[in-house]
Amino acid sequence: MSLRRTANSYLRRLTGYEVRQYRPPAPQPVAKSKRKPPPPTLHDFTKLSVQLEVSPDDLLAALGWPVDEVAKVVDEFDELNDQLKQRYTERQTLFPERWGVEQGTGLTLYGLTRLLKPATVVETGIADGRSSFMILSALDRNGHGTLYSFDVRPDAGSLVLGHPRWKRTVSDAKEPRRSFTEVIDGLDTIDLFLHDSDHGYPNQMFEYESAWPKIPPGGVLASDDVDLTKAYVDFATRIGARPQFLFDRRKILGAIRREAA
Ligand SMILES: C[S@@+](CC[C@H](N)C(=O)[O-])C[C@H]1O[C@@H](n2cnc3c(N)ncnc32)[C@H](O)[C@@H]1O
Repeated sequence: MSLRRTANSYLRRLTGYEVRQYRPPAPQPVAKSKRKPPPPTLHDFTKLSVQLEVSPDDLLAALGWPVDEVAKVVDEFDELNDQLKQRYTERQTLFPERWGVEQGTGLTLYGLTRLLKPATVVETGIADGRSSFMILSALDRNGHGTLYSFDVRPDAGSLVLGHPRWKRTVSDAKEPRRSFTEVIDGLDTIDLFLHDSDHGYPNQMFEYESAWPKIPPGGVLASDDVDLTKAYVDFATRIGARPQFLFDRRKILGAIRREAA
């Protein structure tokens, strides 16, 4: 009989207790943190760009367009806004209005499309089609160009439905990347790209990485809601780009213009 068992039989009789070998508790699996990674700070933006612009005119000028050319296209915007208001009365809209791009972002998209005179524009995230309306109106005024838009909702885009320059793809909601990749693989270049779909980091990064190789010198990679995750600042840092940012009331729009070759 071992010493411990002998001692324990005495102890049990005298006290009701016994001595046991200490066994540390089995380690518990560490629960994965469900907390989202932190969004970018003001410092993340100012590290990449001198300042955040608050006016679309200044953003367009900071991207390299002459101030007088910018002023001309900005002057066209009031008329466009009236047309958009009218369109809202004629079409049935389905999405919360706050999903649509802000006024300054709308003007920036119109201005970018007028100044770039793109053959091909791609946007992800249509909702009722505010951003699509801005881009298509500019393409009409330019007299050429096609907008390829992507959404997972088949009812997206009522504001621009039937527009002859518009090609809408309704992506499979379970696999939206597949439809997106299939369509953009077929495009030679994307002169202007706008991200405004799923604003999670992985999807934002996926879209920037997919679109960037197709953007020619002088073309623009724009993204709404770059303040929600660090994807845009990380992407810009990785490719060594110098983006410009528009602080538009409650969101930040980012725009990277690819340098001329
Ligand atoms: C912020 S809203 C777009 C607003 C639109 N750009 C406008 O100005 O009216 C986001 C849209 O992205 C769509 N969406 C969400 N995830 C998507 C994905 N992975 N691919 C394409 N669209 C997606 C949603 O159905 C929604 O209509």
